[in-house]
Amino acid sequence: MQIFEAIRQDHERQRLLLKVLCETSGASEAREDYYKSLKKELGQHAIAEERYFYSPLMESDNTIEDSRHGIAEHHQIDKLIAKLDETSMSSPVWLKTLKALQEKVEHHLAEEEREFFQKAGKVFSESEKEKLANEYKAEMEPIRE
Ligand SMILES: [Fe+2]
Ligand SMILES: [Fe+2]
Repeated sequence: MQIFEAIRQDHERQRLLLKVLCETSGASEAREDYYKSLKKELGQHAIAEERYFYSPLMESDNTIEDSRHGIAEHHQIDKLIAKLDETSMSSPVWLKTLKALQEKVEHHLAEEEREFFQKAGKVFSESEKEKLANEYKAEMEPIRE
C-alpha cells in the first residue's frame, strides 16, 4: 500500500464520523461517543500525517508551500475542536460549530486528495510511498485497538 491509500482510508473514517455526528442531538451519549472518536481520529491523523507526509514533503521546493498550508489548516481544525470543547453540547452553538468543523475538514481532505497527493506522487519514490504508508499506519495503530 502507498501512503496515499493509507491516508485516504482514514479520511473516509473522518467523513463518516462527521456525518453521523451531525445527525446527533443535544447532550446525548451518542454525541459524546462519536465526538470522542472524532477527536481521536483527527488528532492522531494530524500527528501521523505531519510526520510521514508533510515533513518529508518539506524537503522539496515543489511541495514546501503545500506542506505549510496543510499544517496551518490542521491548526485551524484544532481551534474549532477547542471551541467545541468549551461549548455545551446542549447549546445550538455546538452544532453550528460542528458544521463549521465539518466544512473545514471536508475542504482540507479534498485539497489533500486532489492537489497534494498528485504533487507528492512526483516527489516520493515508489519505495518511499510504501515506507511512509507503513510508518503512517504504525503511528495510527494505538487508536485502532
Ligand atoms: Fe491533513
Ligand atoms: Fe489528511
